[in-house]
Amino acid sequence: LDNGLALTPPMGWLHWERFRCETDCRQFPFDCISENLFKAMADKMASDGYLDAGYEYVIMDDCWLAMDRDSEGRLQADPDRFPSGIKALADYVHAKGLKFGIYEDYGTKTCAGYPGSLDHLEIDAKTFAEWGVDYLKMDGCNVTPDEAMEAGHLEMARYLNETGREIVFSCEFPLYRGDKANYSVAIEACNLWRNYNDIEDSWVSVTNIVNHYKKNQDKYVAVAGPGHWNDPDMLIIGNFGLSLDQSKAQMTIWAIWAAPLIMSVDLRTIKPEFKEILLNKHAIKINQDPLGIQGHLQTTINDVDVWLKPISPNVGGEFSYAVGFVSNRDDGYPYRIEFTLRDFGLNNTAGYVLTDAFVSDETTVVKNTDKLEVFVNPSGAVLWHLVANEA
Ligand code: DGJ
Repeated sequence: LDNGLALTPPMGWLHWERFRCETDCRQFPFDCISENLFKAMADKMASDGYLDAGYEYVIMDDCWLAMDRDSEGRLQADPDRFPSGIKALADYVHAKGLKFGIYEDYGTKTCAGYPGSLDHLEIDAKTFAEWGVDYLKMDGCNVTPDEAMEAGHLEMARYLNETGREIVFSCEFPLYRGDKANYSVAIEACNLWRNYNDIEDSWVSVTNIVNHYKKNQDKYVAVAGPGHWNDPDMLIIGNFGLSLDQSKAQMTIWAIWAAPLIMSVDLRTIKPEFKEILLNKHAIKINQDPLGIQGHLQTTINDVDVWLKPISPNVGGEFSYAVGFVSNRDDGYPYRIEFTLRDFGLNNTAGYVLTDAFVSDETTVVKNTDKLEVFVNPSGAVLWHLVANEA
């Protein structure tokens, strides 16, 4: 969507994967979907280095709404869980230097059964702008016929634009439309869009997403760029399902893909070693590269995937690169692979300044014909940041 926003992949926090639709604040005051949860996350994002690293959007997902619109047809938040109202919550988030995101559904109802936006697109866009919303995630449950989705999302993009407020538009219709999705419309209407099933808290779920992206690689790489990104769904790093190595693997692949980096984790209790992965400045720099090229699977060596992302600076016609090595192996030792960068099509004869992203900030210079090796842990990853040298 050509609205001047999301020129690099959006970064932030979204409640869904970790917090779901818990609405019982009496029993679960700490975890229920309420203004307190979003305030607590905003506090943490500002105080614990996430905002400084680039994570700026605090986004509510499903289950924030009251069951009815007000007498004038406007959406309203659940009064018990959001007693101060959404405008006050957006103000709180803004006062921390963060941006505020909200969720709706294009259909008659949201996936969890709250009022949807159908027949109310214009008034909802206005309401969101009045509240100070900076990001809208639009879901696609309860839409019939689903052929209407493409036109409907173009219409919503127009209403958002007419509010005069800068609002990132995150869509899901390509996921719901599947093979019938019109990606030219996605590029025109949306700043980012989901293409595949929801992420869940497991390595299997991450693997399913990765396999889907591999299968559709040419199609997806072609449609991504500044202002319009594929969204493989949230980072689940720091939750229950991924080991430390698997967390590095998710961060590596999402960085290479130029995927939106939207965390879904309890920032109040996350362990420091997982936080460190989310804040890894090399991975973030690779992900946020201004060229905005979505990386691709270059080759697989003995079940270790080698991912490549061309990045800036381009030196005399040669890109710099991120190279991600991700192991699909489960034999329990760090697996060694040998290669030259030239094997992967890296042709800068003056070589590259190499940083091993999850190891240290130290750099070494490597030539594209040097015999190199990496050791990759089972379902783990190594991420290399390679800056092209001047001749
Ligand atoms: C389906 C979406 O794909 C999820 O990301 C989440 O928004 C849920 N709906 C909420 O009901």
